[in-house]
Amino acid sequence: MRTKLVVGNWKMHKTLAEAVATVEASLRWVDARRDVDVAICPPFTALSKVRELLRHTHIQVGAQDVFWKDSGAFTGQVSPAMLSDIGCAYCIVGHSETRGRFGKLEVAESSLGYFAESDHTINLKIRALLFQSINPILCVGETEAERQAGQTEAVIRNQLASALEGIDPSEMYFFAVAYEPVWAIGTGNTCDAAEANRVCGFIRQVISDLTDADVAQNIRILYGGSVKPDNADELFRQPEIDGGLVGGASLDPHSFSRIVMAAGSNA
Ligand code: 13P
Repeated sequence: MRTKLVVGNWKMHKTLAEAVATVEASLRWVDARRDVDVAICPPFTALSKVRELLRHTHIQVGAQDVFWKDSGAFTGQVSPAMLSDIGCAYCIVGHSETRGRFGKLEVAESSLGYFAESDHTINLKIRALLFQSINPILCVGETEAERQAGQTEAVIRNQLASALEGIDPSEMYFFAVAYEPVWAIGTGNTCDAAEANRVCGFIRQVISDLTDADVAQNIRILYGGSVKPDNADELFRQPEIDGGLVGGASLDPHSFSRIVMAAGSNA
């Protein structure tokens, strides 16, 4: 039996004061749902403060990205050791907004890549996180064009195979994988629950092929992409979906609490 996991990815939102207000507004409701694992991933600037506020609760904090070296001349980067030092339990890796092929400024004439995360750097980040006992949340998912071309399974299989290359299966019990179809992120265009369940089941099968059946049965596979209070219940009722990676709706304390409640009622 896998415990449901709901993760709020705040992306580049909230000042410190806003972060504190959001956590304080949802704390009582979310912390009451002890049958659901919950994590909040604020921007780096609020990580330490949010962790301090949540210290005596079961809610954990996660980072949205990481660099793979422990320290050094890497201007602007944050290491797994630094995340571990402030009590980070999770870290998102391979989000479609940080993978290189989407990391372009959204103006027609620009070809400026601003993150350029590759399959190889995703693998390096996962190894470095595991070394610090931080649980990676590995994001995979296809674009609209790839779905139209019937490539969903091939894209996801490749993403998983390169991200997990050389990782010891025994370390994968601490993983979560998030299926985030790119076309569903921030669009309000949620993937149909049955289809999300099918793809999450496919991801579990690929993990089983790449590692072993026991790991695949234990690993948590989340769905992300326009999860809202109104659709969370149906998504979390699906047998292959073990929770959600929530963007926009996690910014509002009331919406996020309702999503956590939905996971609890389907625990
Ligand atoms: P939305 O919930 O805003 O669609 O974002 C999903 C996401 O990218 C979470 O990582």
